[in-house]
Order: sequence, then structure tokens, then C-alpha cells
Amino acid sequence: MYRTHILVCGGTGCHSNNSGKIREAFEEQIKARGLDGDVCVVGTGCFGLCAVGPIIIIYPEGAFYSCVTVEDVPEIIEEHIVKGRLVERLLYHEKALGNKAVHSLAETNFYKKQTRVALHNCGVINPEKIDEYIARDGYQALIKCLTEYEPQQIIDIVSASGLRGRGGAGFPTGRKWQFAKNQVNDTKYVCCNADEGDPGAFMDRSVLEGDPHAVLEAMTIAGYAIGSHQGYIYVRAEYPIAVERLKIAIAQSREYGLLGKDILGTGFDFDIELKLGSGAFVCGEETALMTSIAASLVPVLLSRRSRACLENRPSSTTSRRTPTSLR
Ligand SMILES: Cc1cc2nc3c(=O)[nH]c(=O)nc-3n(C[C@H](O)[C@H](O)[C@H](O)COP(=O)(O)O)c2cc1C
Ligand code: FES
Repeated sequence: MYRTHILVCGGTGCHSNNSGKIREAFEEQIKARGLDGDVCVVGTGCFGLCAVGPIIIIYPEGAFYSCVTVEDVPEIIEEHIVKGRLVERLLYHEKALGNKAVHSLAETNFYKKQTRVALHNCGVINPEKIDEYIARDGYQALIKCLTEYEPQQIIDIVSASGLRGRGGAGFPTGRKWQFAKNQVNDTKYVCCNADEGDPGAFMDRSVLEGDPHAVLEAMTIAGYAIGSHQGYIYVRAEYPIAVERLKIAIAQSREYGLLGKDILGTGFDFDIELKLGSGAFVCGEETALMTSIAASLVPVLLSRRSRACLENRPSSTTSRRTPTSLR
């Protein structure tokens, strides 16, 4: 049990602004002062306010430090961690509040009116530790689906929720899953569209980097609902941190029996593979995406969203943003 948690943003924005070195500096100083039993340093995904990164949040106070540099670390340790005093000059100052220092993230205008759904774990957990995802009720929905519901009941719930695709067209997700379930075929695929062609959008990247298990869990539920045993995540190779964290998450899920054969002893098999795209905008379009995954010609012109084929098998492509909104 630690008395203090120092959360260091490890999203791409802060990472490219030296947050990796800041995290190392905290770890070194905490060790050097013999505080490693009391203070824990956690690398997180993006908090959302990248423009004022690198961002550090210290709990239990929830103190929100912005634009932190490696040189600021000794002062934060000495003042905040050792003496228990906030470092006022590093607290985020909100222009809309007359440049007033804001003490916690929740107090900022940016967050006050937000209810985070798809991003609810981003900036909160260490995305490289499955236990932290589980501690936030991660994989509970999958367990419930596999042990309490028939596939059709899940599709009915998703349909009734009114959830629509987040890839642009707003297609009802429940209907899409129903179409895929109705296809009679031994082999079906769940494809996650994390291509994110829109320049500078970075919402897929934020979830993949900050909460990769949410994507795996949602895909596994989709697989169970439509009768698929194989999923693909199509992610661009230009997102190395996202790719790395997905690889770690897939390995951890397999180790915990949450992916692979006979998931949690329920008899359901489902596994996920990564496919790296080289960044062509058109590859975010679902038939192009599936062609790219299959690396072979598929009947692009003939296929429509609900009947699209990967290797001529029924497939359901869902934007990465959609399934993580299932919560
Ligand atoms: C040229 C083009 C590029 C697209 N790029 C993306 C993309 O980067 N990410 C995405 O989720 N959907 C993209 N789409 C939409 C997908 O084809 C597809 O409709 C979507 O992935 C379906 O998921 P949804 O039902 O969850 O929204 C693109 C469509 C077109 C025509
Ligand atoms: S990358 Fe750190 S706040 Fe977005």
C-alpha cells in the first residue's frame, strides 16, 4: 500500500516532450531517498490536455502539475512528497479563471462538464498492467457475457442501447452485429478499425495507448456475440507506443486466460492478432482495410458494410471508438 501515487503521462504528446525521462527522474530520486516503499510512480495514457504537457498528477491530493520538466523533479519531491506542500508555480493555471491556479484536473473547465466513457481509464491506470484494468472493473463485462448471456441477448442489449458506429457513418452497432451473427459460416472475423486516417485526430491512439484492454475486451464480446473466434486490430505502424502497449496487453490477456482457447473455462475460443498498416488514408475504409489485412484481392466493389468479406468470410468491422463506448 503506497501513501502517494505519482502519475506521469506516457501518452505520445507528453512522451515526445520527455515524460519518459521525467518518470525515470522520479523513480531515481524516490529510490535515492528511500521512499520506494511509500511512493509509487505510474506511467499512464493521455490525460487529454496534451497542450500543457508533460502532465503529472499526484494522489491522494490530485494535484495537477503542467509543463513539467526533468529539472522540476527535485523540487516536486522535496516540496510536495517530503514536506507536503503544493508547488504553486507548476500547478496548471486556467486562463478562463483569470489565470488562477487549478489544484486538480476535475476543477478545470476542460473536464468539469465531461463524462468520460471511452476514455474513462485513460490517464488513470497504467496501460501496461492488466491488474490495474481489472481493478477498474475491467473484464467484468466479458465474464458476465460469457457466463450469463446467450449471444442473441448481447446483441439485443447493444441494439437497445442505441449505440451507433463512431467511424463516421453512425451505423447502429447492434444491427451490424446481427447481420454478422446471421451469416452461417464456420469462420467469421471481428476487425477493429484503428487505422485513424484523419490527420491529427488521435482519439484511437489515445485509447490504444491509455486503455488497450478495453479494446480487447470489447472485441472478445463482439466475437462471442457474432460467433467469431478470431479478431484483427488494424493499427498504423506510425503509432509505435500504441502497437507496443497492444502487444503487451494481448500477451497479458492470454496469460490470464482472457484470450485464446477456452476463455475462463467457458469453452469459448477467441484470439486477436495485430495487423500494422502503413498509413494510407484509404486503408481506414473498411473494404480497403480488410483487403489490406487479407493481403489478397477481395471483391471490394461488390461488398457492402454488412456483408463485407475478409478472405470471403463474413466479417464485422467496427471503429475502435465504437466498442469502447459499450460501458
Ligand atoms: C476513405 C475512408 C477512410 C476511413 N477511415 C476510417 C478510419 O480511419 N477509422 C474509422 O474508424 N473509420 C474509417 N472509415 C469508416 C469505415 O469504412 C467504417 O465505416 C468504420 O470503420 C465502421 O465502424 P463503425 O460502424 O464502428 O463506425 C473510413 C471511410 C472512408 C470512406
Ligand atoms: S499525451 Fe499527455 S496529456 Fe495527452
